[in-house]
Amino acid sequence: MTMQHSLTAKKHLLLGISGGVAAYKTAELARVLTQDGITIQTVMTAAACRFIGPVTLQSLTGNAVYTDLWDTNAANNMAHINLSRQAGMILVAPASADFIAKLANGMADDLLTTICLARDCPLLIAPAMNRQMWSNPATQRNLSLLRRDGVTILGPAAGQQACGETGMGRMLEASELAEAVQQAFRVDDAPLLRNKKVLVTAGPTFEAIDAVRGLTNKSSGKMGYALAQAAVEAGAEVTLVSGPTCLLPPAVHKCIEVISADDMLHAVETEISQIDIFISVAAVADYRAATISQHKIKKSDEKLTLELIPNPDILSTVSHLPSPPFCVGFAAETDQLEKNAALKRRRKKLPLLVANLAQDAIGSDESELMLLDDHGKHMLAKAPKIEQARHLIKHISALYELKKY
Ligand code: C5P
Repeated sequence: MTMQHSLTAKKHLLLGISGGVAAYKTAELARVLTQDGITIQTVMTAAACRFIGPVTLQSLTGNAVYTDLWDTNAANNMAHINLSRQAGMILVAPASADFIAKLANGMADDLLTTICLARDCPLLIAPAMNRQMWSNPATQRNLSLLRRDGVTILGPAAGQQACGETGMGRMLEASELAEAVQQAFRVDDAPLLRNKKVLVTAGPTFEAIDAVRGLTNKSSGKMGYALAQAAVEAGAEVTLVSGPTCLLPPAVHKCIEVISADDMLHAVETEISQIDIFISVAAVADYRAATISQHKIKKSDEKLTLELIPNPDILSTVSHLPSPPFCVGFAAETDQLEKNAALKRRRKKLPLLVANLAQDAIGSDESELMLLDDHGKHMLAKAPKIEQARHLIKHISALYELKKY
């Protein structure tokens, strides 16, 4: 979000309504939010207009409702840009399965999808659909794409559905959506990490053995990238040092791609003097080959012995600096999670260590986290990594303020 945008667009919500019975709840939502001092600009899809009349939303919000991409009343004929620039936040409620599919694929064939694609502000969606449509792999695939793109997904809830079936897919109630919008505006009011410089390491490292082979691990980089994204959302200037992954980096200040632990250490050491908070998420290989063959090692019937030497511990190197930044470590354990993690926190001198079970977390889109700090243990129940990352950033910011680094 640009500075000018964030200053002028405070507490102005663009309420998008797509086609679904739950559209009736948006009338109450508009009423509650307007009473709470949020101004609302409503944009409805053609299907939404079949469920609730634009006049209802116009009356409740006091603003004309937009439905048409080709509305010639827009001064410059660019309603999609004008409306999205004025918004401090966009909430699409209900978000139908069809709307979610379009959004996930960057389609823009009506006013609301075009506004969402052209936005430079946070986007929240409240899905509402039949339980089978919700659990369909296509819908779930689209939702995980949206989560990765930083879209916040509110609900849905389980319960009685308009079609007579019972299950997951009911849109959240107006009061719950109103609270989520208020909360999102509060976060936007005071970016937690404004003026802070954050360095995140992510992904695996790759330790060459010969010209074509190497040692690596199954880390996907998803948690590190999610943390980098959450830190950007919290207003930090983020540097991401990433081992080899298939992920597109979020909009960070700087992204440095590395291969080996040595490269990663070098990149971190180059950046670290400027850094306030160091979040070491990378799954750095513990060992590397003592010698790297410049040629491909030839296959033979003989036993091949590989001599491995330990890699530098990047996190320990940083946390043992004379005046280290606030250091956060990660521990992926296969057993005795709390005991091993607590030991690691002490050994590496970390104010905060985040532990998870390697078999659950590696490569997955979700994780369950155990946070260990000077105040004890704090659990984050299983949730998408981007949501965990946002919780973690709040936790890190609170600890950082306490320690007054
Ligand atoms: O000791 P262990 O590898 O389990 O510690 C994990 C934590 O230490 C992670 O935060 C990881 O990023 C960091 N680490 C590191 N350099 C290493 C090994 C681990 O920075 N060589």
